[in-house]
Amino acid sequence: MSTAKKEYKRVTVKSLVDMKKTGEKISMLTSYDYSMAKIVDGANVDAILVGDSASNVMAGHETTLPITLDQMIYHASSVVRAAKRALVVVDIPFGSYQGDSKEALRSAIRIMKESGAHAVKVEGGEEIKISISRILEAGIPVMGHLGLTPQSIYKFGTYTVRAKEEEEAEKLKSDAKLLEELGCFAIVLEKIPAKLAKEVAESVSIPIIGIGAGNHVDGQVLVVHDMLGMTHEFHPRFLRRYLNLYDEMSEAVSQYVNDVKSQNFPNDDESY
Ligand code: KIV
Repeated sequence: MSTAKKEYKRVTVKSLVDMKKTGEKISMLTSYDYSMAKIVDGANVDAILVGDSASNVMAGHETTLPITLDQMIYHASSVVRAAKRALVVVDIPFGSYQGDSKEALRSAIRIMKESGAHAVKVEGGEEIKISISRILEAGIPVMGHLGLTPQSIYKFGTYTVRAKEEEEAEKLKSDAKLLEELGCFAIVLEKIPAKLAKEVAESVSIPIIGIGAGNHVDGQVLVVHDMLGMTHEFHPRFLRRYLNLYDEMSEAVSQYVNDVKSQNFPNDDESY
C-alpha cells in the first residue's frame, strides 16, 4: 500500500486524478455551511461535497428529492467562502438535470456562477449521458455517482446494498466506463459490494470514491454529521463514528438550560 502524499495549496480535479495515479487515497466529506466547512477544510480534507443530503441533514426531509437548486446554491456559496484548500463539488439536485440536457447545463452554470464551486455531481449513467456531455462541453467538471443513488430511492424502494445481482453489477460496470469515456473526473460508488467496487476502480483511470464500497477504491466520502455523531438515528454498517457529538451537544445544552433556570449563568465575570 502506497502512502505517497503530495502537498496541495488548492486541490483541483487534476490533483484527484494524480492522487489515483500515485496511490494517495482521497478524503472527501460533506459540508453545507460556512462554519463546518471551515473545520473540514482546515483539517486538510481533499474534497468537500455539498451533497443534496443537505435535504435530510439540514432540512429534515426524509429523502434528498425536495431540495431545490436555489437551496443548493445557498449551501454551496457558504461552503465556498470557507474552503481555502479543498475542491468543492456540488450535487445538482433532483429534477434539475435528468429530463432535459439544456436544463442540466443551465443548472450546472447557475451552481458554478452563483456559488463559485469547482465542480458538480450527478447521479446515474447511460440515462443521463446527454446531460453530462452538455455540462462537460461547457468546461464544467462533472463527478458521477453510481450504485445506491438516493435521488432514485422510490425506484429502488429501500436503501439496501445495490448491484448484488449480476445484471445490475454489469450495468454499473458499463456505466462507470461510460462516465470515464464521457470525461467525468471521478465517480462516487455508494453502497455496493466491495469486490465489485474494486473491480470498477481497477478498470477505470479516474478516481473511484466509495461510501459503503469497501477499502479497495481510490478514496472515501462520508456525511460529516454522521461521522461526527451529530445524527444518531442512522446506523449503516459502513459508517464509522469518530465522535458522539449528539450526546455531547445535548449534555451541553441541558447544562445551559439548568444554568439559566438556576441563575448560575451569567456570573459576575460574564456581566458588564
Ligand atoms: O448527498 C450526499 O451527501 C452524497 C454522498 C452520500 C456521496 O451524495
